[in-house]
Amino acid sequence: MTDVFGLSHKDTGPVTGGQARHEQVVFCSDERSGLHAIIAIHNTALGPGLGGTRFYPYESEQAALADVLNLSRAMAYKNALAGLDLGGGKAVIIGDPATDKSEALLRAYGRFVQSLGGRYYTACDVGTYSEDMDIVARECSYVTGRTLANGGAGDSSILTALGVFQGMRAAAEHTYGTPTLRGRRVGVEGVGKVGHRLVGHLIEDGAEVVVCDVSERAVERLRRIHPQVEVVADRLELTAADVDVYAPCALGGALDDETVARLRAAIVCGGANNQLAHPGVEKQLADRGILYAPDYVVNSGGVIQVADEIRGFNMERAQAKATQIYDTTLKIFSSAAEDGVPPAVAADRLAERRMSEVGRIRGIWLGH
Ligand SMILES: NC(=O)c1ccc[n+]([C@@H]2O[C@H](COP(=O)([O-])OP(=O)(O)OC[C@H]3O[C@@H](n4cnc5c(N)ncnc54)[C@H](O)[C@@H]3O)[C@@H](O)[C@H]2O)c1
Repeated sequence: MTDVFGLSHKDTGPVTGGQARHEQVVFCSDERSGLHAIIAIHNTALGPGLGGTRFYPYESEQAALADVLNLSRAMAYKNALAGLDLGGGKAVIIGDPATDKSEALLRAYGRFVQSLGGRYYTACDVGTYSEDMDIVARECSYVTGRTLANGGAGDSSILTALGVFQGMRAAAEHTYGTPTLRGRRVGVEGVGKVGHRLVGHLIEDGAEVVVCDVSERAVERLRRIHPQVEVVADRLELTAADVDVYAPCALGGALDDETVARLRAAIVCGGANNQLAHPGVEKQLADRGILYAPDYVVNSGGVIQVADEIRGFNMERAQAKATQIYDTTLKIFSSAAEDGVPPAVAADRLAERRMSEVGRIRGIWLGH
């Protein structure tokens, strides 16, 4: 049983903007290539939905559906606050990318994306890479996240890390009255694609950095570039460390009850998606006086980077837009203070307001 239309929640009455139910959910199947995909468009109030394609061995179709519905809704909020004229969309391909991915499957998928006539633009996500997007693009015009050689934006972690750094500068401004991490101690959990680039920005800004990662290779690579970085054993040690800022840059769910209770940092600002382990954690952070920079706001540099491909990729223009994450984050902190709510709630409200107000003007009749 699915509940895509949310009809069992009829009693909640009409909903608008980001709260609205999904506009369109498409199940795609091509037996010969083994393609089983779901494309979800949460809303197109601001423009076509943009979000990546996740290739993952879901346990069930129901689990894949739940994931794609959540992810496409999250993209609507992220794109809205990134100031993009894009709505929320996402796709999942059910299968093991290591064994099930093939040219035929990716091209079949591309034809389904094309069939939506530009209502959904795809990109990379877990299990898909720029090279895959080049293959999808052989059947489809609505593809971003392509390789540099094919006019794409390349590795999106470049502007993701820049955006997280800008969000952290805004948090420093809000907390200490100065937009720099100079002389602060920052703990970075996970030094993969985003984390290691973030460390570079922090060191350049004059911060002291302490890191942890489950991958020795990732730590070694970082130490080769930045030998001054301190390394601790694991996330337990990092989250208990005497740091000013904690930057989760590994997996989702980093902020659970135990971690929040342990933190000594004044600021949480990192690149990982879905950092709050469950609803209510944002309030626990606020109650402890810890400033939380909402994840989907500060990590939107990646989508800003790939979205720029739609106009013909220009790194300078994309970088300028990702730098604006500083202003957006500051605005969220002041709006949260004014309304007496945690920043995560203020961010959702601002995103919903943009979807509703800017989305509304699309209804203005332009004549023939
Ligand atoms: N790459 C992007 O452009 C982008 C954009 C938005 C959000 N994100 C999010 O940022 C996070 C990091 O993405 P990435 O692209 O850097 O991925 P990545 O796989 O390159 O890096 C993740 C790193 O975290 C480490 N790690 C995993 N579990 C850990 C643990 N328990 N403790 C410490 N380290 C651990 C891994 O070993 C790896 O080095 C993810 O949550 C991702 O969804 C990435």
